[in-house]
Amino acid sequence: MRIGVLTGGGDCPGLNAVIRAVVRKGVSVYGHEFVGFRDGWRGPLEGETMPLDIQAVRGILPRGGTILGSSRTNPIKIEGGVDRIKDNLASGGVDALIAIGGEDTLGVARQLSERGVKVVGVPKTIDNDLSGTDYTFGFDTAVNIATEAIDRLHTTAESHHRALICEVMGRHAGWIALHAGMAGGANVILIPEKPFDIDRVCEYVESRFRTRYSPIIVVAEGAHPVEGQMALQAGELDAFGHVRLGGIGEMLAKEIEKRTGKEARTTVLGHIQRGGTPTAFDRVLATRFGLQAIDAAHEGDFGTMVALRGTDIVRVSLDEATSELKTVPVQRYAEAEVFFG
Ligand code: F6P
Repeated sequence: MRIGVLTGGGDCPGLNAVIRAVVRKGVSVYGHEFVGFRDGWRGPLEGETMPLDIQAVRGILPRGGTILGSSRTNPIKIEGGVDRIKDNLASGGVDALIAIGGEDTLGVARQLSERGVKVVGVPKTIDNDLSGTDYTFGFDTAVNIATEAIDRLHTTAESHHRALICEVMGRHAGWIALHAGMAGGANVILIPEKPFDIDRVCEYVESRFRTRYSPIIVVAEGAHPVEGQMALQAGELDAFGHVRLGGIGEMLAKEIEKRTGKEARTTVLGHIQRGGTPTAFDRVLATRFGLQAIDAAHEGDFGTMVALRGTDIVRVSLDEATSELKTVPVQRYAEAEVFFG
């Protein structure tokens, strides 16, 4: 078989580890041939390819980003996009696709699969909000980076008697905020799933100052206050429809200063959470996903996505994987709330 590989959406540490595993096993165990499609769905849409052989994947396991490039191109939204992809696959002699991506990329994979394209999906997102899998690679790396940042913020916050806010990624789900906040001993964690009450947040801040320690607040970029409360709104959207990083963190700092009279500053971790080398956990998960994906393609098990269930790598339908986002359940947030204040 000749198999095309692409990576779509926001990049994520571990993408290269997946590509390497797919190609290494695909060539040496099954004798398949590969072609890399550049920049997500833009590659098959415009017929932009690159060689993808054993040589091309040498040394990429620990490297962040993706050697294939990425984009948020959505062929479904482009007139005649699906037919162009089918034509390009046929003319390039490509029998099947392995698409590595998040909700959007896999949503396209599902729709192409329904229209006869042979595709296997691999879940990726640092946000960990994809259904059908317990974890996505990239999440562990992002949580470790954010935890280290929170540890560092504690010491400077205490030296200056300030409230420090750490804004982390998470447009729709607060997994990074929850895990990094718990691991870093944050005094308050604010996530999109639970609109926050600014009066409560300020009470926590004040009670923390009374203990002579400085409060650390971890806020997911998509968190927002309860409806109608203050002028504070969820981060505004940019021209691409994404939450403007720094929006909610900055607004929180201003509001805390105004209400408590204490100095508050915000650190926005932004894309630092996505760049650089993956943790060992993410390298292993990404590698195991890649091995399972090439097995699925080899066996002709298309329309599926590889997933982690417990400690096993399994296959689920692309339908299940893209049906709804996996948000933080109430009980998980309640565990963290015990430590607030
Ligand atoms: O989907 C992952 C994510 O990291 C989100 O948390 C964030 O909103 C988004 O990507 C930002 O990505 P970009 O700046 O590349 O559009």
